[in-house]
Amino acid sequence: MTSFFHFRDGWLQAEDVPLHLLAEQVGTPFYCYSGGALAESYRRFSGALAALNPTVCYALKANGNLAVINSFAKLGAGADVVSEGELRRALAAGVPADKIVFAGVGKTEAEMAFALDRGILQFNVESLPELEMLSKLALGRGQKAPVALRINPDVDAKTHAHITTGRAENKFGIDLVKAESACKTACDLPGIRLQGLAVHIGSQLTDLEPFRLAFSRLAELYGSLRAAGYAISHLDLGGGLGIAYGEEGSPDVDGYARIAAETVGGLEAHLVFEPGRHLVGNAGVLVTRVLYVKQGERKRFVIVDAGMNDLIRPVLYDAWHSIEPLHAVENTAAVSPADVVGPICETADSFARQRLLPDLAPGDFLAIKSAGAYGAVMASSYNGRPPAPEVLVKGSHHAIVRPRPSHEDLMRGEILPDWL
Ligand code: LLP
Repeated sequence: MTSFFHFRDGWLQAEDVPLHLLAEQVGTPFYCYSGGALAESYRRFSGALAALNPTVCYALKANGNLAVINSFAKLGAGADVVSEGELRRALAAGVPADKIVFAGVGKTEAEMAFALDRGILQFNVESLPELEMLSKLALGRGQKAPVALRINPDVDAKTHAHITTGRAENKFGIDLVKAESACKTACDLPGIRLQGLAVHIGSQLTDLEPFRLAFSRLAELYGSLRAAGYAISHLDLGGGLGIAYGEEGSPDVDGYARIAAETVGGLEAHLVFEPGRHLVGNAGVLVTRVLYVKQGERKRFVIVDAGMNDLIRPVLYDAWHSIEPLHAVENTAAVSPADVVGPICETADSFARQRLLPDLAPGDFLAIKSAGAYGAVMASSYNGRPPAPEVLVKGSHHAIVRPRPSHEDLMRGEILPDWL
């Protein structure tokens, strides 16, 4: 893949825009996305799968910025949403309703009603009570809701426990053994049109074999249901294809596409994919400034102005993100271990432990890389900190696509009761 983040004249750039100049203009911390990288990863993913003619529904949960969604919508993407908020975002960013799938274990009545009124492609339903509620709501509108039943194939995705979803003990989907009776229930409900099956076994998969196992189980079920007379036509294979966070090779998109072709390609089903991280993860960085360098008794601490409120992945999933200075380092041998930590009052607020880094001084800028997925979208204002703004770059253009909220913005709407 072309590197859209590269050094020129001694400074790290996003495409043609030097990140340190952006840092001076926008202030730190901030997220920066490369429009070129977004487009390339989408084209690469959809190109690999082109022979299967699928609907690629970008999973908004990875990065819900309107400009990011719109970049994919322009290339023909649909959307995978998990709430009314995400559905509204997808529509606002120009994704046609008939390319939107609505997933999630806990959709509320109001959310399902909103989606029914918009005419979406499919509800991925995860339980019988949800199916009954959806049927009732659709019937009340004189509709039949298009449904895929999400099946839990009991496959180990070999990823972090927090983002494993396809084991029998996880809360997601309908157990494989109960799938046929759930299909029967779906077909008996007057407000449901059962159109297919869905699966999603986890996120940041770097080993492709779990996909093969899950897709094969789904294919087998699809075949037996069709043979039993169920007129299903859609298979949603979920997301989950990982990215390289370090020097390791990136999971192979062509290998993934080959597995899809080999397992479900012959079924003549309409295929849906829900990639999130793979499309945005390596298209974004979080730029932060060194506030202080503290040489402790045992450790060097590099204290930066981004915190776990801006990027929670290292804390929540022990995630490893590459960190590098925005200025090119001349003497790459002169590195020593440092903990890169944020200003938040918790020991957990750390981006890296004992990472080999060059000498750093207050005012130096660092890029925390591979931060385009599950970064800004999981940010909070914990510790009274306005979350980092987001900047999109394309060639030599840049735009702040979500500004840093002001302190007034953060307090807006809060009320002091008059009885206080
Ligand atoms: N479809 C469904 C039903 C999902 O639950 C997910 C992710 C996706 C698609 C997209 O998965 P992706 O292609 O991005 O792997 N916050 C965590 C990741 C949580 C993933 C949740 N579900 C992280 O930062 O690693």
